[in-house]
Amino acid sequence: MEFWKRDHMCGELRSSDEGSEVVLSGWVRRRRDHGGVIFIDLCDREGATQIVFSPEIDQEAHKIAEGLRSEYVVAVKGLVRLRPEGTVNHKLPTGEIEVAAGSLQIINRSLTPPFPIEDEEDLQEEIRLRYRYLDLRRPVMLKNLLLRHRVTGRVREILTEKGFWEIETPILTKSTPEGARDYLVPSRVHPGKFYALPQSPQLFKQMLMVAGVDKYFQIARCLRDEDLRADRQPEHTQIDMEMSFVSPEDIFLIVEDMIKKIFGEFVGIDVQLPLARMPYPEAMLRYGSDKPDLRFGLEIQELNEIFAESEFRVFKQVLDDGGVIRGFAVPGGARLSLKQLDDLTGFAQEAGAGGLLWILFKEDGGLKSPMKKFLPEETLNRIKEELSCGTGDCVMMVADRPEVAAEALGRLRLRLAKEFDLIPKDSYKFLWVVDFPLLGYNEEEERFDAVHHPFTSPYPEDIPLLDTDPLKVRSRAYDLVLNGTELGGGSIRIHQDTVQEKMFELLNISREEARSRFGFLLEALQYGAPPHGGIALGLDRLLMLMGGLDSIRDVITFPKTQKAICLTTASPSEVSPRQLKDLHIELAPEVRKDQ
Ligand code: AMO
Repeated sequence: MEFWKRDHMCGELRSSDEGSEVVLSGWVRRRRDHGGVIFIDLCDREGATQIVFSPEIDQEAHKIAEGLRSEYVVAVKGLVRLRPEGTVNHKLPTGEIEVAAGSLQIINRSLTPPFPIEDEEDLQEEIRLRYRYLDLRRPVMLKNLLLRHRVTGRVREILTEKGFWEIETPILTKSTPEGARDYLVPSRVHPGKFYALPQSPQLFKQMLMVAGVDKYFQIARCLRDEDLRADRQPEHTQIDMEMSFVSPEDIFLIVEDMIKKIFGEFVGIDVQLPLARMPYPEAMLRYGSDKPDLRFGLEIQELNEIFAESEFRVFKQVLDDGGVIRGFAVPGGARLSLKQLDDLTGFAQEAGAGGLLWILFKEDGGLKSPMKKFLPEETLNRIKEELSCGTGDCVMMVADRPEVAAEALGRLRLRLAKEFDLIPKDSYKFLWVVDFPLLGYNEEEERFDAVHHPFTSPYPEDIPLLDTDPLKVRSRAYDLVLNGTELGGGSIRIHQDTVQEKMFELLNISREEARSRFGFLLEALQYGAPPHGGIALGLDRLLMLMGGLDSIRDVITFPKTQKAICLTTASPSEVSPRQLKDLHIELAPEVRKDQ
């Protein structure tokens, strides 16, 4: 039998529709049997409508309704009527009406779902991912899909208005230098050769600038084989942009305008522009992180001067070795127990610090600290003044190399903010982190590493330092940070081959290696490359933060687990010997044994 064609969606009817004959279709949810009268919520992506079956309205429809089960797909014909006094549901847009069912058609049955299709919060994620199509059917998840659709649509509009062209770049390509492991695809036609899946469209968008495209964007899928976390997936999507003849300031303006619009329209907050900017060294010093969460205080300060004359052996040693003493105050922290302080010490040690030094300014005026005898009155007063703290508070300090102190205190800061409930809800703190160093030193491999990627331009005035003090060279790279999450990153690129060669030299990439890895880009740069730069915003992270969610998995339709497995399709999976043979691939004996 043909199914009846609906004339309304399930979220549409209002009291003004009273008396209309309607046809609705959707899924049966929450069936209630009240002594002969059966109520169901009929649901689709737009909402829910209460349907009433009773022998008085229609005997046959009521009879069929007795057989309805959760998630059956049905069509209902009936009359819209006002719900009786006292039964109006003000939480539902359709809560003033119901449909008195004159006839019912069961279009399809359903197995009993493994979990109720409701906005439950504590469903096990493994089951949700296994039956993702049912998980996505839940209103919260449909809402996330809709947000994604709307935001990407709006981003397309905004960028198009600004003169950007949306251009696609290849998925089967060559390794790109974003620093993660590549996903490789073996070539059938060229035995022993592999495509790499793009970690980003970086090199293509640069070539598009050489091509004269001027303003490019792409909602681009990027693939990186890296360790996964709540905000990291093997496949993620970037709002990827590149522009010619620009300075970082031009790029900030475009991104800020886009951020203001989408947060205004979809989150309902008025983002104040321009967004704050902070040089990288300041972020590391004050927040111990290159992605500071500015929603709360607990600011770190350097205390070297206060302890310059200290007799305390640890401090003396660290300062003599060129290290630092940094710390921050935790308001109300004097209530921390010794056990908690031990835990925090362990936590700081896991972050690389030798230890954690704490001072509790007890409520009763007393003082507790493992270094109490090295804390004369004057030192204590200076600490209190410097860190604006006093009775009832505590101070956490780390004495170590600057980068270790930053890392340990930065992590402690985040942990204590959570434990002391210092992070306000519905607060959005954006920040540009600028002036990243161009290079870091890789101690293990005894060579320099690009902090961003090898095509990032140094500050022109710092170029001479490439020869004398490479670690001091600042790059024209920037990150956009929101609430302690890196939302995006980009840079002005190197467009002169002499600077590019110098960079490869410092990175210990030989001419031959550079040619074989990125020869096509280096060649392109020699054919009249305009100065250019760009940025990529992580779309999944953006949506996670806009939706107030804890994980990007909730805004990705079919995400992978922490172990990079897709539970819905059970991939990755074995392939047939035939397929392997076609690809000229033989599995190693130990792998074969496991299969
Ligand atoms: P970058 O590597 O900083 O820059 O990536 C840009 C943004 O993409 C998001 N992101 C991720 N999101 C989820 N899962 C991941 N595994 C993941 N990796 C990155 C982050 C990040 O800020 N080509 C450069 C951009 C440029 O220079 O223009 C790039 O890809 O939000």
